[in-house]
Amino acid sequence: SLPAEVTIWEVGARDGLQNEKEIVPLEVKLEFLRRLADAGLVVLEATSFVHPKWVPQLADATELLAELDQAPGARYPVLVPNARGLDRALESKVRDIAIFASATETFAQRNLNSDLDGQFGMFEPVVSRAVGEDIAVRGYLSMCFGDPWEGPVPVEQVVAAGKRLLEMGCFQLSLGDTIGVATPGHVEALLRAFVAAGVGVDKLAVHFHDTYGQALANTYTALRHGVSTVDSSAGGLGGCPYAKSATGNLATEDLVWMLEGLGIEHGVDLGALVETSRWMAEKLGRPSPSAVVKAMG
Ligand code: HMG
Ligand code: MG
Repeated sequence: SLPAEVTIWEVGARDGLQNEKEIVPLEVKLEFLRRLADAGLVVLEATSFVHPKWVPQLADATELLAELDQAPGARYPVLVPNARGLDRALESKVRDIAIFASATETFAQRNLNSDLDGQFGMFEPVVSRAVGEDIAVRGYLSMCFGDPWEGPVPVEQVVAAGKRLLEMGCFQLSLGDTIGVATPGHVEALLRAFVAAGVGVDKLAVHFHDTYGQALANTYTALRHGVSTVDSSAGGLGGCPYAKSATGNLATEDLVWMLEGLGIEHGVDLGALVETSRWMAEKLGRPSPSAVVKAMG
């Protein structure tokens, strides 16, 4: 069966822009977020309170939130890795945060300067303090399918790490295919393993990068298994600067086109979204990789 409605978790302004070679000007980021909200998106991941030297592309997080005109009813989550990040997010009056763990040892080191076990020690006080302040905390888990240094990642390893994030107090777990190597059979196996381990699909979201062109097939598989929150980025922007070979996310346009055809409610004006991605592509100086943007543009 398929869900009647899907929540699109738009990550273009964060996952999309964290990987750009040129730093995108603050005014362009603000207009991007405004246009995305105007197109009907209601969850807009806005930026990250990470170390500015690690991700200079998002070093303007405080300024961005100060100047952002938040659309009524929309949520603007931000990434927070540690206590310092949470301090900064709280100063900016953030109400939704996401922590981001790795399912593998190597990526925990590369992305967080920690290790597989140590990362949980970093996140635990962040989650408990945030939850105490009534802030919703999402948990991302990266490298759920394959890791560029370690190869395929065992399903049990992913389930064990994911459960720790949920037990810590995350309201939702987003399963990241950081480098875009997942295929539908693997997605099905992982979702089944979570359910067998007592995690309801209502707690799970999916986050596919489209390196091998499987993001939409993987998403459809997840929908068939009852997942109803899907991460995507307008125009298919995205990638992680600390993950070798990571490319853009599933394009929100491609997702919306499929949801439309399936009769699943999504709340997005596809024409306005395509127009936004064309505008953004012009600002970035290269065409969007999204098939739907190309077809409708
Ligand atoms: P570290 O260098 O080990 O930090 O980095 P530290 O704790 O040793 O602190 C060193 C200095 O940095 C200190 O300053 C801290 O105050 C400062 P000093 O006392 O020396 O003057 N500092 C900070 N400053 C501002 N904001 C902060 C912060 N933290 C420490 N938050 C750290 C550890 C986790 C901070 C670093 O590794 C980091 O920022 N990593 C983030 C990398 C990142 O953002 N990656 C991309 C996002 S993940 C992703 O894209 C995947 C996802 O899309 C899902 C998927 O696709 O799989 C989510
Ligand atoms: Mg990502």
